Amino acid sequence: MDFFAAVERRRSTRLYTDRIIEAKKLERLLEAVNLAPSARNRQSYEIFIASTDEKKRALAASLSGKDYIIKAPVILVFCANPEIIRASSTANPLSKERMDLLAIEDTTIAASYCQLAATALGLSTVWISPPDPGKVLAAINRDARLIPITIIPVGYPAEHPDAQPRRDLADLVHEF
Ligand SMILES: Cc1cc2nc3c(=O)[nH]c(=O)nc-3n(C[C@H](O)[C@H](O)[C@H](O)COP(=O)(O)O)c2cc1C
Repeated sequence: MDFFAAVERRRSTRLYTDRIIEAKKLERLLEAVNLAPSARNRQSYEIFIASTDEKKRALAASLSGKDYIIKAPVILVFCANPEIIRASSTANPLSKERMDLLAIEDTTIAASYCQLAATALGLSTVWISPPDPGKVLAAINRDARLIPITIIPVGYPAEHPDAQPRRDLADLVHEF
């Protein structure tokens, strides 16, 4: 599938079939994520994978009310890791806010690559913003040095929702 076809086909889906994701396909997806650009090429984020029922249930519980994610064969948790940027800025220290923001930017770009790569591979996803990041950290057994940004269930879609409306370009794009 070419890039524009993937962009146009992608939908947020919350229903998945029972079909497991082939290991090669998952690897290809993660390799695509690994090609995302990042600040100073530091890739200041971590990805956690849940593929067992126990881990998926722990994640669903951390989101309270998102039990549908358990049906996805794989759930990816994208966490910003500002420590990585911090380690690269000893000579010219950046503020905490700047480092956090760069790590969050890296993470969101990588997660966005994940959504498009999944679509190109015939898979589907939805971006879930954790309402209580602390609960997600507890579920993945990590401390507050990481910032959970998004939880992305990945699976073969059992639905293809209609495209959601978007703003007109005339409203979105501005001369200045
Ligand atoms: C930053 C962000 C946060 C989102 N949070 C949630 C969420 O918590 N739960 C959910 O079901 N969908 C969530 N979504 C998915 C959006 O609802 C969805 O992308 C939007 O309605 C457009 O639909 P589409 O993705 O099918 O084009 C989120 C998407 C983004 C980019």
